[in-house]
Parts: sequence; C-alpha cells; structure tokens
Amino acid sequence: MKKLVIMMMLLTFVGATVAIAADSYTYDNKKGTVTFNHKEHQDKLGDCAKCHEGEPAKIEVDKDFGHGTCKSCHKEMNGPTKCNDCHKK
Ligand code: HEC
Ligand code: HEC
Ligand code: HEC
Repeated sequence: MKKLVIMMMLLTFVGATVAIAADSYTYDNKKGTVTFNHKEHQDKLGDCAKCHEGEPAKIEVDKDFGHGTCKSCHKEMNGPTKCNDCHKK
C-alpha cells in the first residue's frame, strides 16, 4: 500500500514535467505580429508529425520556419499565404 502511494506520487511528478504546448503563440517582428494558434492547428490537422519530428517538443519559429514550413503547408492546404494574413500590425 505504501509502495502504491509512492508510485502514484512519482507518476504525478513525472506527468507534471511533460511539455504541453500553449494554446497560442505570438511572434513580434518589424513586418507585424504573427499569431500561431497551436490548439486550432492541432485539432484541425490531427497529426503532430505534420510539424514535429519524433516526440513533439519546442520548435524554434524563425523566418525560415514561418516562410518554409508554415507557408508551404498553407499553399498545399489552402491556408493563408498573403503577408498580411499572417503578419498583423
Ligand atoms: C501546424 C504545426 C503543428 C502541429 C500540427 C502540432 N504542433 Fe506542436 N508546436 C508547433 C510549433 C510551431 C511549436 C513551437 C511554438 C513555440 O514555442 O514558439 C510547437 C510546440 C509544441 C510543444 C512544446 C511546448 C513547449 O513550449 O515546450 C509541444 C509539447 C507540442 N507542440 C505538442 C504537440 C502535439 C502533441 C501535437 C499533436 C497532437 C502537435 N504539437 C501538433 C507546431 C505544431
Ligand atoms: C501542416 C499544415 C500547416 C502548417 C505547418 C501550418 N498551418 Fe496554419 N493553417 C493550416 C490550415 C489548413 C489553415 C486553414 C484552416 C481553416 O481556415 O480552416 C491554417 C490557418 C492559419 C491561420 C489563419 C487561421 C487562424 O488560425 O487564425 C494562421 C494565422 C496560420 N494558419 C498561421 C500559421 C503559422 C504562423 C504557422 C507556422 C508556425 C502555421 N500556420 C503552420 C495549416 C498549417
Ligand atoms: C504563413 C505565415 C506567414 C506568411 C504568409 C508570411 N510570413 Fe513573414 N514570418 C512568418 C513567421 C512565423 C515569421 C517568424 C516570426 C518572427 O521571427 O517574429 C516571419 C518573419 C518575417 C519577418 C521578420 C524577419 C526577421 O528576421 O526579423 C519579415 C520581415 C517577414 N516575415 C516578412 C514577410 C513578408 C514581406 C511576407 C509576404 C511576402 C510574409 N512575411 C509572409 C510567417 C509568415
């Protein structure tokens, strides 16, 4: 019984350290703030592997990622591709 309680405490601790994505992220730059709604993309696209390689973790979102990965998928799937669709002043 005591062992079980310790096990459960350990599991809770481990669970709390697993990374969870925020619902939404924003990136400020001179062209205008880009908002990435992670939750909406996750729900719509279903497959984490569309953006994450292996175990989903932090991705460094820079210009290359934004104009590469984000925009290429939008081209393929009829998402927004105009500058001001992503960049808002
Ligand atoms: C459309 C692309 C896309 C999809 C689909 C997607 N993610 Fe992400 N995810 C990202 C990006 C981009 C980031 C980095 C955001 C940032 O930190 O600026 C991220 C970050 C994360 C993080 C790291 C959070 C942190 O800050 O430590 C986790 C965990 C994660 N995603 C889990 C998932 C899971 C699980 C799924 C599938 C159910 C999923 N993601 C689907 C793009 C995506
Ligand atoms: C694997 C495909 C895919 C990737 C990668 C992806 N998106 Fe999208 N995104 C979509 C699709 C599909 C839509 C259109 C959804 C709709 O209108 O039903 C969309 C819609 C959007 C919209 C408009 C709707 C909203 O959520 O406000 C924005 C802004 C957006 N994406 C930003 C981004 C950014 C920024 C990234 C990269 C960090 C990104 N997306 C990566 C597929 C993707
Ligand atoms: C699919 C969404 C998307 C579209 C469309 C898009 N961008 Fe971006 N852009 C991003 C993301 C994401 C970043 C990286 C975020 C950051 O660095 O703040 C970025 C970064 C930038 C930067 C900052 C670069 C830096 O290093 O400071 C400029 C300037 C820029 N974009 C201009 C444009 C122009 C001009 C267009 C239209 C021709 C455009 N973007 C279209 C998503 C997009």
